[in-house]
Amino acid sequence: MLAEGVALPTGESYEAALKEISQTQTLADLDSLRVHWLGRQGILTSAFKKLGELPPDVRKAEGQTLNDAREALESAIASQKAHLEAQDTKRRLARTAIDVTLPGRDAEIGSYHPLTLVQRTIEDWFSRLGFVVASGPEIEDDFHNFEALNIGRDHPARAMHDTFYVSGNELLRTHTSPVQIRALQQWGPPLRILAPGRVYRRDSDLTHTPMFHQVEGLVVDHDISWAHMKSLLSDFLRVFFDDAPAVRFRPSYFPFTEPSAEVDLACFFCRHQGCRICKNSGWIEVLGCGLVHPVVLQTTGVDSQQWSGFAFGMGIERLAMLKYGIRDIRWFYENDQRFLKPSWMNTMVNTEL
Ligand code: FA5
Ligand code: MG
Repeated sequence: MLAEGVALPTGESYEAALKEISQTQTLADLDSLRVHWLGRQGILTSAFKKLGELPPDVRKAEGQTLNDAREALESAIASQKAHLEAQDTKRRLARTAIDVTLPGRDAEIGSYHPLTLVQRTIEDWFSRLGFVVASGPEIEDDFHNFEALNIGRDHPARAMHDTFYVSGNELLRTHTSPVQIRALQQWGPPLRILAPGRVYRRDSDLTHTPMFHQVEGLVVDHDISWAHMKSLLSDFLRVFFDDAPAVRFRPSYFPFTEPSAEVDLACFFCRHQGCRICKNSGWIEVLGCGLVHPVVLQTTGVDSQQWSGFAFGMGIERLAMLKYGIRDIRWFYENDQRFLKPSWMNTMVNTEL
């Protein structure tokens, strides 16, 4: 218990001040109390100043009282300050605390594009039969894309390829067949190559995109016949689709093969009934093929009396669409995560995106 002394203004008491200090909630409130009592104009400071005016017999006792009061107030303020600061730290820590018991966030794991997976499946299968993977430039010249493939300047077949020209003589290749020419020029027969890659045409709908992928195959050797080609392609389609979908070899025309065919598969989406995707025909075309035209062999310096061959060009998107039930070719290029996720092959079938 502090002696109240004589110099306190009315209404103020040390006991009340100590109580108030211990009840402050903020450092700012605490500091106002400190200023109120101990600041330059504070109650105690003024009281000390007035000590000299007191009669000597009271002065000593009053001096003692003021000293005790100052010590008590200073120590109360210091301990309340430590208490409030500790509380503050505790609150801040609680706000920024990391709950180590929460489950972690999974990192999204990337995956190969569906078309890459299909392309690799095709490469694997043909590599086992001795095909070597080859490639050619996407910006081609007129000679390799057309001329050497027996598609002269005024050939009507040029109209089938809606070509993007880069300059007069350079173009974005419209098919992978120019790689046939490059391979024959570079290596000559006998050869078996497989050439997957991007090709470009001005074309866009449910089954056509302006950029798409083909995989070219070329076999040149002695006594190669239509039977070799037909059995190879039929085997491939049977294995690729796990089972035999209805397949038809339909007579067709390419200037660089003779005879030529296109291969259609029964439309998976309508089960052959005819729908938007197969344009009501019940069939979807997946590849073109034929026996290499003697003119192509001669142009690349290969003796067509000694050597013969077959070639084919498959649409990778089309094969993927039929295998996995993808109803719109454009999904391959929209980068929708639901489509690109690794589980795609199992879950993608016929769900509306
Ligand atoms: C050709 O491109 C020939 N070079 C194929 C060939 C190679 C014939 C070797 C003979 C010998 P075609 O234009 O039909 O043919 O295209 C081949 C395949 O590519 C088609 O069957 C189809 O599966 C795919 N395809 C064609 N155009 C597109 C397109 N715009 N979008 C997606 N796939 C396409
Ligand atoms: Mg075609």
